[in-house]
Amino acid sequence: MTERDFVPSTYTEKKAEGKSTWKSPSNIALVKYWGKKENQIPANPSISFTLEHCTTTTTLEYRLLDKKAKDFSFDLLFEGKEKESFKPKITTFLSRIEAYLPFLKDYHFKISTSNSFPHSSGIASSASGMSALALCLMDIEKELNSGMKEADYFRKASFLSRLGSGSACRSIYGGLVTWGQHPRIPNSSDLYGLPYSYDLHPVFRNYQDTILLVHKGEKTVSSTAGHNLMHGHWFANSRFEQANANLSRLQEVFKTGDLDSFITIVESEALTLHAMMMSSEPYFILMKPNTLHIIERIWAFRKEQGVPVCFTLDAGANVHLLFPESEKEAVDQFVQNELVAFCQKGQYICDQIGMGPKNG
Ligand code: DP6
Repeated sequence: MTERDFVPSTYTEKKAEGKSTWKSPSNIALVKYWGKKENQIPANPSISFTLEHCTTTTTLEYRLLDKKAKDFSFDLLFEGKEKESFKPKITTFLSRIEAYLPFLKDYHFKISTSNSFPHSSGIASSASGMSALALCLMDIEKELNSGMKEADYFRKASFLSRLGSGSACRSIYGGLVTWGQHPRIPNSSDLYGLPYSYDLHPVFRNYQDTILLVHKGEKTVSSTAGHNLMHGHWFANSRFEQANANLSRLQEVFKTGDLDSFITIVESEALTLHAMMMSSEPYFILMKPNTLHIIERIWAFRKEQGVPVCFTLDAGANVHLLFPESEKEAVDQFVQNELVAFCQKGQYICDQIGMGPKNG
């Protein structure tokens, strides 16, 4: 499919007003998207677990205007309060997707949104937030084109989400989701996410993710700025090759349930992501001393206890602990005994693989 396939033909129906609500989750990448081309096209394919509890709930109310507006017309409420500072991001998103949803300037919107996780916890809300909004907007298109098939609805929601924030396109589906063309994944695309529908060893069912909140402040460098620093980066091409290879290796691991290899690949991806940050020009560091303390404790615990727990990082200081459901008790104890001390205000979130966005 190409971008042009997402431009709708004339709509068959009319809709004066309505309302739609979606609760959409965040996701955590195992093979990282880091580096992009124009129009939110990823420089390498990625794969993530969709989470269950870290979600954004968005309600979109829409009302047909008397005539098409010159600019996008919307109010934005975050946790019940007007949030002017979020508006430019939404305006950018709407202008990127206008060609694919030509009705956007025909309506006035009220966007009310809230997160399940604590505000400024360092957990990126762009994946859950953009995917929730894209789904709500797709509900309007569904009203205007009643013949739309479910698979097309979700594929386009993923396509639109990507234009809001790259990683958001993976949040449209539950379980494991890939994004980006990969020779060993038929139908994979740079334009949208694809549920990973191959053999999955039972050890990965209900895989757990405990998110240790190390640093809750604003990041010094945004993901978007970080992606851009991959242009002309010394190691960019090798990194993109490595991500492709790691995705192939993970495919094998998902089949066999080989947790040692899973741990090696996932931790290497996390450290490589941060190595790219540390070796870009300008260079920067998003990890904090406590991020490293936690990593050292994880390595020692794994060696001593033989529990197959590993870490991954996103573009921040927080640490995601990944482990099979069968190890939950042991890891909870370990977190309590050894890791809570390194979390800001002792805060962490117990999450796990989730089923994807929920309507209503
Ligand atoms: C490190 O999707 O937040 O979490 O497309 O600029 O919005 P934009 O970037 P974003 O980048 C996510 C980077 C990452 C890795 C990943 O989720 O794959």
